[in-house]
Amino acid sequence: MKDIQELKDLNAKQLWHPMGHPGDLQANAPTIIDRAEGVRIIDLDGHETVDAVGGLWCANLGYSNNVVKQAISDQLFKLPYYSSFAGTSNAPAIEAAEAVVNFFKEDGMARVFFTSGGSDSVDTAMRMARQYHRLRGQPQRIKYLSLKKGYHGTHFGGASVNGNQRFRTAYEPLLPGCYHLPSPYTYRNPFNESDPAKLAQLVAQAMEDEIMFQDPSTIAAFIMEPIQGAGGVIVPDASFMKLARDICDKHGILMISDEVITGFGRTGDWSGARHWGVQPDMMTVAKGITSAYFPVGATLVNATIAEAFESDQSGEGSIYHGYTYSAHPVGMAAVNACVSETLRLDLKTNAAARGQQLHHGLLALQADFDIIGDVRGGHGLMAAIELVSDRTTKAPLDMGAIKRAHKATYEAGTMVRIGGSNLLMSPPLVLTEADVVKILENLRSGLSVL
Ligand SMILES: Cc1ncc(COP(=O)(O)O)c(C=O)c1O
Repeated sequence: MKDIQELKDLNAKQLWHPMGHPGDLQANAPTIIDRAEGVRIIDLDGHETVDAVGGLWCANLGYSNNVVKQAISDQLFKLPYYSSFAGTSNAPAIEAAEAVVNFFKEDGMARVFFTSGGSDSVDTAMRMARQYHRLRGQPQRIKYLSLKKGYHGTHFGGASVNGNQRFRTAYEPLLPGCYHLPSPYTYRNPFNESDPAKLAQLVAQAMEDEIMFQDPSTIAAFIMEPIQGAGGVIVPDASFMKLARDICDKHGILMISDEVITGFGRTGDWSGARHWGVQPDMMTVAKGITSAYFPVGATLVNATIAEAFESDQSGEGSIYHGYTYSAHPVGMAAVNACVSETLRLDLKTNAAARGQQLHHGLLALQADFDIIGDVRGGHGLMAAIELVSDRTTKAPLDMGAIKRAHKATYEAGTMVRIGGSNLLMSPPLVLTEADVVKILENLRSGLSVL
C-alpha cells in the first residue's frame, strides 16, 4: 500500500472522477475515505466524521450492516455471476423480484426489471414506456415530459429529461422530444409565487399547456422525483404529485416516479409516491435497494403495463434491452438482505423522526445566519440549506465561501455535500438523535468561519 501523501498525489494522475474537472482535481487532492463504521466515515488521515451525505443518498443502513455483508460474501463464494438474459436465472434473483415487488405492492407495482443503478433504471423505464404504447397501438407516443431541477442520471435518456443545465450543455444534442416544466420550487420560480399550493397549481397548468401544445397523443411519459434531490431537495406541495397524476391519466400519459433517492424509506414512507398518496405507473429505484453495498437498480411496472407485455402475441413485447449485470446473483443476494433489514429496522420511521429533528435544527440555524436563504426538508432524511450573499436579492453565495464552509464543517466532524449553492444532507437512515445534534453543531461551526 502506498503512503498517504503518495496516494493523494497520485489520485487524479490517472483517475477521472464523476462530476469534477480533471485538471482541478490534479491541483486539489480529494478527501480519501479509508473506512467506515456505523454512520461515520474515517479518512486516510484518520479524521472521523458523521456522514451526513450517506455516501451519495444511498448508504441507508449505514456502513456496518453485517447481515448484508454476509449475504454478499456467501453468494460470492457460491455463484459470483451468471447471466439472467432469457434462458437462465438464479435463485437470489427470483427471491429478490418477489421481495421488491412486495415492497412496492401498495404503490401498485407488479413486475420488476433489475439494472446496475439509477441511470440504467431511468433509461429502462423510458424505453419500456415507448414500447408499452407501441404494444397498445400508439407508436406515435414517443415524447417525455419532466421537471426543471430534476435529476435522472447521466445516460442519454436520463440526461435528456434532466432539468439542470449543468448536466446537459456539454453533451448536447440530447434526445429529441423531451420537454421541461417549471419546478415546484417556491424559493425561485418564474411565477414569483412563494405559496407552495398555488405554485403547484401553476406548474400543473403549465403541464396541461405543454401537453396541449405538443399534442397529448404524442407523449409517452412524465417522469418526476417525488422530492427533487440533487436539484436541491425541492419539496413540492402535498397536492402536486396528485395533480400531475390526474393530468397524466386524463391524457393517457404514463407517470414514472423516479424513486432512486426516495425509495426504501428516505422520505419517511417506503416510497416518495406513497408519501404523497399517489400510485405511479412505473418506478425507478437504486441506492437504498442494497444500501449501496453492491451496485443494483430496478425498474418496476404496474399490472396494466405488465399485462400489455405479457399478453402480447405478436412478439413485439420482447424486451430487447438489458444489462450484463441485470439480476446479478451477488447483487440480488444484497437486495434480499437489504430489503429485509430495511423492513426489520423500520428505517422509514426513524427517517421521519430524525428528518423532523434535522429540519427544525436547520430552521434554528437559519435564524442565526443571514447567509441561509432557504431551508428545505422536513420529509424524512433529505435536507438542504441554500446559501445566499443577500437574503433580499437571493444572490447565491460565491463558491469560494461555500467551499470554505464545507471544509470547516468537515473539519468540525460532519461530511455534507455541495450542490450548486446548497449544502445537501441525506444521512444514513439509522442515524441517532445524538448524530443529528452533532451534524447541527458542526454545521454551525462550519458556517461561523464565513
Ligand atoms: C432521482 C435520481 N435518478 C437517477 C439517478 C442516477 O442514479 P445512478 O447515479 O445510480 O446512475 C440519481 C442519482 O443520484 C437520482 O438521484
